[in-house]
Amino acid sequence: MTETSAEPIAALVTGASRGIGKAIAQRLSDDYFVIGTATSEDGAQAITNALGANGLGLVMRVDDDESVSSAYSELSERSLQPLVVVNNAGITRDNLLLRMKTAEWQEVLETNLGGLYRVVKPALRAMMKARWGRIINLSSVVARMGNAGQSNYVATKAGIEGFTRALAHEVASRGITVNAVAPGFIESDMTADLTPEQVELMLARVPLGAMGATTDIAAAVAFLAGSGAGYITGETLHVNGGLHMN
Ligand SMILES: NC(=O)c1ccc[n+]([C@@H]2O[C@H](COP(=O)([O-])OP(=O)(O)OC[C@H]3O[C@@H](n4cnc5c(N)ncnc54)[C@H](OP(=O)(O)O)[C@@H]3O)[C@@H](O)[C@H]2O)c1
Repeated sequence: MTETSAEPIAALVTGASRGIGKAIAQRLSDDYFVIGTATSEDGAQAITNALGANGLGLVMRVDDDESVSSAYSELSERSLQPLVVVNNAGITRDNLLLRMKTAEWQEVLETNLGGLYRVVKPALRAMMKARWGRIINLSSVVARMGNAGQSNYVATKAGIEGFTRALAHEVASRGITVNAVAPGFIESDMTADLTPEQVELMLARVPLGAMGATTDIAAAVAFLAGSGAGYITGETLHVNGGLHMN
């Protein structure tokens, strides 16, 4: 599909203002017209500036129905219908369950899992019409390993992998693949608050002996979005330096 289309295919990347999402947006802009989202106008403008002619920044809060639908309306006004959707936006609100506040539980669920529902559903119709689509969801190594202090986050990441398999069944006959990428320990704002001791402890468990780079995740997403991955669906691709092996 990518090779034969006259117009570049549009790819939507949520949470493209920083970290892994920024690297994914940059990498996909080699092959697609990328719509990258941020939660603020400034963030959206920075994405527009960074992507230049190959993309556009847009404000979208994936935990908010109205924000998602107004972003899709803007895309529709611009005649942009993403056939590649990368659900990258995600947050943590870590706490032991015993101390976890309801707000910490709900914010993580509404963003990481609710966001998937809000963002993917409106994109499906165009993919079905095109009889081609790629949906890639960011999970995490902790979905399989578990992690103390992250019951809310881990629940969403395990849920994302289940969602991925269920939707893969639903849309396979329309030429749409649905996969997940599960990063391990990646250098980004999400891991920036860890103490040197925590980093050292973590790295001792990583056979490849280093934190991953955001570009390592972007490469995996680009593979799943590309034509070489057309026969892969419902799968979770682990990119974790060997921290967890299935
Ligand atoms: N870093 C890791 O080690 C690691 C490991 C495993 C999995 N992951 C997963 O990879 C993904 C990206 O992680 P990261 O480390 O790059 O995170 P990050 O640096 O903290 O960036 C988070 C991104 O999500 C956006 N975002 C936050 N809340 C949002 C909301 N309500 N609506 C829409 N966008 C929102 C942020 O936008 P603003 O800039 O506008 O706030 C930002 O672009 C996440 O799903 C995370 O769970 C990361």
